[in-house]
Amino acid sequence: MSETAKIELGGETFELPVIEGTENEKAIDIKSLRGLTGYITLDTGFKNTGSTTSSITYLDGENGILRYRGYPIEQLAERASFLEVAYLLIYGELPTQLQLDEFTNSITQHTLVHEDMKQFFEAYPAKAHPMGVLASMVCSLSTFYPESLDPNRGEDAKNLTIHRLIAKLPTLAAWSYKNAMRHPFMYPRNDMDYCANFLNMMFAMPTGEYEPDPVVVTALNKLLILHADHEQNCSASTVRIVGSSHANLYASISAGIAALWGPLHGGANQAVIEMLQKIAEDGGDVDKWVAKAKDKDDPFRLMGFGHRVYKNFDPRATIIKKACDEVLAKLGVDDPMLDIAKRLEQVALEDEYFKERNLYPNVDFYSGIIYKAIGIPTEMFTVMFALGRLPGWIAQWKEMLENGDPIGRPRQIYTGANEREYVNIANR
Ligand code: SDX
Repeated sequence: MSETAKIELGGETFELPVIEGTENEKAIDIKSLRGLTGYITLDTGFKNTGSTTSSITYLDGENGILRYRGYPIEQLAERASFLEVAYLLIYGELPTQLQLDEFTNSITQHTLVHEDMKQFFEAYPAKAHPMGVLASMVCSLSTFYPESLDPNRGEDAKNLTIHRLIAKLPTLAAWSYKNAMRHPFMYPRNDMDYCANFLNMMFAMPTGEYEPDPVVVTALNKLLILHADHEQNCSASTVRIVGSSHANLYASISAGIAALWGPLHGGANQAVIEMLQKIAEDGGDVDKWVAKAKDKDDPFRLMGFGHRVYKNFDPRATIIKKACDEVLAKLGVDDPMLDIAKRLEQVALEDEYFKERNLYPNVDFYSGIIYKAIGIPTEMFTVMFALGRLPGWIAQWKEMLENGDPIGRPRQIYTGANEREYVNIANR
């Protein structure tokens, strides 16, 4: 007999089915609740509400576990390539060598963007934030590939759109940086792997001296893998709900980029470095800033700290913190921000306020320090997050369509004015 949940309303008892996932997570299936009782549930911010079932990523917030299609993030970050992980997330299994070669070749063939798109870049002011540029450029891709407007055109067409997007996002990201610097655009190089090619488009100049540092390429590969998916976070949920209206993939991902931009989400990695710089300029008094973060009358929050799901530690932060020490040592970079970050972490983790609320460093706390060390400018940090998260967003979008999920349309509880008569303006 499968488990059920009983609720009593108005003297009646109603039974609702309980569903259990493959990792023994349980949920009360409330799809029949309103029909049975006239009631809905309310959970602002969906803190305790599941929006779907999914087989892509498993998180255990209490135990700091993160797995992509069952593979622990620690193993993937150490042993896989980013495109291998992208394939795993999107198609569900680790690729064979032949599958990976075909996937990589298809992506390599689509790294160029239509020459007309260069005019869009030139219309942006130099101070344009690259996330604003990227969100609009990705949505604009749909205008160059009108056949992509129907997301249900069949597997080959869907895969072509997916490969085009994975191939073009690094180009669009690098060009948004070059445009801001008013430097000449560098075209993709088919003789370079995904990460080296991105770095080359970011930092090479037509004069030809630049060569991507293998230490930096390896660090970037690891960072992109660590950001590749995170189940139903704010931006993935945005991609799903936009895609649930059967809007095309480019429009759905553009919405995900916009959601990621917020400082409470992916924008936190930029906000962390800006916070560390502010603390450094203020004399490095971490106790003062931890006190500000605890003060309810002070809007300041410790950016890069806290998480909706991880109430123990974010396994990605643990890996990135270790990579910080390794990459900065290999590059011979001595960044005082790292010392401030470590002191901030230590003070916060010993403080009752943070312990009581289970606030620990999240993926954004240390990532900016590595990005800074490998030469990525601060305003590009959230773009780096989007580059990493792209395969996860695509996997979530694809699963939502393949599962036949309905259009997302939550209910509400109305708390506004009751019915009232219109009053002519002369009498107001
Ligand atoms: C990402 O969901 C994902 O998976 C996201 C992500 C992904 O990979 O997609 O992991 C990426 O977005 C990581 C989070 C990056 N954001 C930040 O670092 C911004 C700083 N963090 C917070 O704003 C906050 O912790 C959130 C937004 C991350 C989580 O917020 P919640 O779950 O809604 O928690 P909350 O705001 O209700 O906070 C609970 C309590 C509150 O205090 P009380 O009202 O109980 O007294 O903790 C406090 C908050 O004031 N709190 C903080 C804090 N974070 C929470 N206090 C000081 N500094 C902080 N950073």
